Amino acid sequence: MLSPAQFAEKKARNEKIVFCTCYDYTFAKIVETAGLDAILVGDSSAMVMHGYPDVIPATVPMLAAHTAAVARGAKNTFIVADMPFLSFRQGKYKAAEAAGALMRAGAQAVKIEGVEGHEDVIEFLVQSGIPVMGHIGLTPQSLNQLGGFKVQGKTIEAAARVTLNAQQLESLGCFSVVLECIPQGLGQTISEQLTIPTIGIGAGEHTDGQILVLQDLLGMNTGFKPKFLRTFLDGAALIQNALQEYKVAVQEGTFPNEAERYR
Ligand code: KIV
Repeated sequence: MLSPAQFAEKKARNEKIVFCTCYDYTFAKIVETAGLDAILVGDSSAMVMHGYPDVIPATVPMLAAHTAAVARGAKNTFIVADMPFLSFRQGKYKAAEAAGALMRAGAQAVKIEGVEGHEDVIEFLVQSGIPVMGHIGLTPQSLNQLGGFKVQGKTIEAAARVTLNAQQLESLGCFSVVLECIPQGLGQTISEQLTIPTIGIGAGEHTDGQILVLQDLLGMNTGFKPKFLRTFLDGAALIQNALQEYKVAVQEGTFPNEAERYR
């Protein structure tokens, strides 16, 4: 399992860091076997696993349950758990309680969206021995303020603010930072300026690593086709075909066969 310091070492060696999200035991075993560097138990679980339209309904108990399942499946992979909506905006002690619940569930680090107004919380968690990953650019927990899932940092002023936020996160002691949905050039500039690794999603090819939502990259989320997403499997079609073959085999009486029954 990588340590937070080893993420920075990978960056220094120009080795890309590969994350994906994961929310359950079965997929966690597969992700670990595939050898990815790290797993994020994202608040996207509210959408992917629970069918909500956005991440706002995610809670600490919800993410702790997913984290525990993932930790049982991927015992040797670095796991980051998301701090859900408002869990880090009610003072540093409440944030420490939430982060503690996620760490006790099996995470090795937590991820916090944004920086302005909760700098003290990030610093306190880091000083408490909790590795913290930042997340700037498009921050889905602020969806209602941002007015939708839109590319961020497109104007000079907005790009300067994202860059400043990235520098603040490094100064506050974050071990890495997610850059979500920002122009490729901005992803490159920030990645070159920081010592800590940047992990991009929709931030171009120059970030120090990439992250995708597991079900998106496996082609299981058929309605979701943002420009940045590549699907590496036609998962929904493959699974649907398998289920249809199973249905036909049962209906036709070819499943179970002689080898598949007890005498
Ligand atoms: O919750 C999540 O899946 C995330 C990634 C998109 C970075 O925060």
